Amino acid sequence: MPNTGLNTSGWVSLILGWGFILCLAFFCLFKLLTKKKPAGAAADHGHAKRDYWATRAGLILAMAGNAVGLGNFLRFPVKAAANGGGAFLVPYFIALLVLGIPLMWVEWSIGRYGGSRGHGTTPGMFSLLWKHPIAKYLGAFGIFLPFMIGTYYVFIEAWTLGYAWFSATGAYMGHESREAMRHFLLGFQGVESNNFFTSIGPVIVFVGITLALNYLFLVRGISKGIEVLARYGMPLLFVFAIVLVIRVLTLGAPDPALPDQSISAGLGFMWNADFSRLSQAGVWLVAAGQIFFTLSLGQGMINTYASYVKETEDVTLNGLATSSLNEFAEVILGGTIAIPVAVAFFGIIETQNIAAQGAFDLGFVSLPVIFQKIPFGQLFGTLWFLLLFIAAVTSSVAMTQPAVAFFVDEFKWSRFKAVNWTFGILLLCTALVVSFYKYGFLDELDFWIGTLGLALFAVIEVVVFSWIFGIDKGFAEMHKGADIKVPGVFKFVIKYITPLYLLVILGTWTYQEAGAKLLMHDLKPEDAGNKPYLWGARGLILAVVLLTLVLIYKAWQSKRHEAAKS
Ligand code: ALA
Repeated sequence: MPNTGLNTSGWVSLILGWGFILCLAFFCLFKLLTKKKPAGAAADHGHAKRDYWATRAGLILAMAGNAVGLGNFLRFPVKAAANGGGAFLVPYFIALLVLGIPLMWVEWSIGRYGGSRGHGTTPGMFSLLWKHPIAKYLGAFGIFLPFMIGTYYVFIEAWTLGYAWFSATGAYMGHESREAMRHFLLGFQGVESNNFFTSIGPVIVFVGITLALNYLFLVRGISKGIEVLARYGMPLLFVFAIVLVIRVLTLGAPDPALPDQSISAGLGFMWNADFSRLSQAGVWLVAAGQIFFTLSLGQGMINTYASYVKETEDVTLNGLATSSLNEFAEVILGGTIAIPVAVAFFGIIETQNIAAQGAFDLGFVSLPVIFQKIPFGQLFGTLWFLLLFIAAVTSSVAMTQPAVAFFVDEFKWSRFKAVNWTFGILLLCTALVVSFYKYGFLDELDFWIGTLGLALFAVIEVVVFSWIFGIDKGFAEMHKGADIKVPGVFKFVIKYITPLYLLVILGTWTYQEAGAKLLMHDLKPEDAGNKPYLWGARGLILAVVLLTLVLIYKAWQSKRHEAAKS
């Protein structure tokens, strides 16, 4: 295999892709520094007592924490490498421009609008935008989607914490083959009992610590909990990521006997463009799915965080700044760590296999092997897994917050009671995810909730905003207190292009995957025994959906009673 360093297409992809993100980031930074306004008064509408973000920097960091997650450092490099390398950036940036950034503005606007009227979740927000009894039930998505994603996200988050500990203590040192590290992971996950782990106990301990940390930040509230976490966590995350990028870029060719296995070959593998892949619909779907996942869109998570923005404060510049920070972390930092280093140590053919195995293989099997081969590997391993943990925890608190906000806003519960109930239910669901992980339970939840659910909710949301509430009213709402003006062409994009693009994606997904998935025709013969567990996962989704609908019904019923009394 010749040394395939960056070729012309690779350089062009890098320069244009990185250039675009850096321009966006510097534009936002410049505007943020020059448009500093005094903090506005609390919003009116009788809800001035809401727990608002204390500072603009804290808000942007919390929103970036919400978006920057495992998707940036594990999911993106694998998807890009497996779907055309540099060419993947074409559908990726198109999706960013017609889906990502417009939806980001829409979700910030809906969130702030609802929050200043006392509603921190989409049932209440939708019922303000659309005076129809069904509107609040459509908003149920914005509670159960993030909550359900949270039930399995915290499990993966616990692995990152566990691996940070194993790296720091050298627990996996001396097991330098990928085969050995695969068994280490399977043992830790509780999939098999082996000479590394004989019980599921250790992973349960880390799940417990992860849940406890999430609980602590949530129970302290928005400005004293989530914002504090973001103000310390996000700068640390960027420092860790930049240290790792520098380490990767200075590795050269680690084995002088194999000069073709180098970082330059890795960057070539990651960014040289295979434009022939752009004729495949699947590549466009993957790119759009990645944009949703990474920016935390179509899940109600951004809406809920934006509900704690004062009505006098900007959403256009803040939304753009959040997106550009996320893209910086994803394309520039995330794209430069895991895949290039895998090529430098395992070569291109093997890295293709690793990418085909998915993000977990790359992050938890291949990289720990590499950390055993480089000087100060224990330190870099600890940094890598702590980076993943910080990325994950700042996202998982955002997944749980909508349920908490719903109880606080719609049932007038104390935050303490709301967090306790939310965590009680989360604990039960996560216990099922942990217990049945080996039967494909997590993947089943991720397909229906983390893939199909997001796109479906995004369509509903953009239609409610631009067609029912009205794009002109929506745009006016978006520009209250705005620090930058959104170009008028985005009215057209949000009203027509975004929903159309989403419908095409949804239709193609349904056509290509949902049928076989629904009937479980895609199961490998050896996995046929998993069917009862996969039905169990669907049953769990249904139970959480029904619970959310019943709670919405109850909340509005008690509002009616109170209105009748007064
Ligand atoms: N947006 C979060 C991530 O990328 C959920 O992991």
